[in-house]
Amino acid sequence: MNHHVATDLPLDLQYFERDGLPRHGLPGSAYTSDAFWARETSTLFPRGWTFVGFAHELDRPGDVRPVAVGGRPVLLVRGEDGALKAFHNVCRHRCLKLVDKPGNRGRLLKCPYHAWAYDLNGRLRSTPYFGGSEHHEQEGFDRSEHGLVPIRTGVWHDWIFVNLSGDAEAFDDFVAPLARHLDGVDFSKLQVVGVIDLGVIETNWKFLMENFIEPYHVQFVHATTTDQPLTDHYTVVDGRCLGSAIDVADDHHKKDESANTLAVSSRYLTLFPNFVFGRYFPDQLGVHENTPIGPGQTRQRRAIYTTNDQPLGNDDADALMALWRDVHREDHEICERLQEGRKSDIADGGGVLSPHWENSVRRFQEFVVEAVS
Ligand code: FES
Ligand SMILES: [Fe+2]
Repeated sequence: MNHHVATDLPLDLQYFERDGLPRHGLPGSAYTSDAFWARETSTLFPRGWTFVGFAHELDRPGDVRPVAVGGRPVLLVRGEDGALKAFHNVCRHRCLKLVDKPGNRGRLLKCPYHAWAYDLNGRLRSTPYFGGSEHHEQEGFDRSEHGLVPIRTGVWHDWIFVNLSGDAEAFDDFVAPLARHLDGVDFSKLQVVGVIDLGVIETNWKFLMENFIEPYHVQFVHATTTDQPLTDHYTVVDGRCLGSAIDVADDHHKKDESANTLAVSSRYLTLFPNFVFGRYFPDQLGVHENTPIGPGQTRQRRAIYTTNDQPLGNDDADALMALWRDVHREDHEICERLQEGRKSDIADGGGVLSPHWENSVRRFQEFVVEAVS
């Protein structure tokens, strides 16, 4: 990559750019400072395809879900034509955040402040008394110019992405580097087991991503929840698809135990910036929704799927959800301590990265620098 980056970055990259192995990581301020967070919210998130939610949660026409992209309010809507749409979640009258909770809103999205109403295509349909006590119209004001502002949207299976700037690469091209690692997944049999709300984690969103794509920590942090020897892992660095993988010799033998441990072949893959996709052989998938809400806070949910024709019984589903809660808790404790450590001046050098196990992390950090430059 091109290491000449804009000099106006709110980051000191002298260690990050130093040549020779092992490479240094990003300085602490990339995770802790308001200035860098402000930079990410004005560049990295709006310019890319940011993952914002699960399509199955907007099933019926009129279903809505407010989400955030780099702190900006965005609204997901299931239209009357069945299509998923995204809009800036802002009333065009006085810019109130239009929808504040998920649910079904019927055919009209009505603003609670002065009752302006929009249809599911975002068209402004009513502006009561805007022109006076007997007039809904106002000279010089054209409703057709004040509809909700649409946002470019891409849906891949159950996963919804938005591109605020409107000029990111074609959506299919964005997804392709991940899709090509998923041979043998039968998406026609995709079934949702459940969605776990993991709450607000006191950590920068990048730590959750970096932690997911390096296999180095697994044997230490997840000693009781997984049985995946380090030697069998390898990293994946393939364009915008970053992650790690493990091939376990005999998945079939382990299948009966798979609800209790993760001793199966797995793929831990991401698409930059924030899409997280786990594949657990033979037929389980997991997707994390990481919503960055500030430099030191990220909301996380996880959807669990199967891709076979055998729906899990309630007990099996509960056991699976419990396992994943435990695994996430282990990762969250680590990520929260990474956040604490980055507040020290010692973190200016960014630590060092194993060229063997953390080249995926290094590439992720290079994408970050590129995206904010
Ligand atoms: S701010 Fe929405 S109707 Fe006034
Ligand atoms: Fe982990």
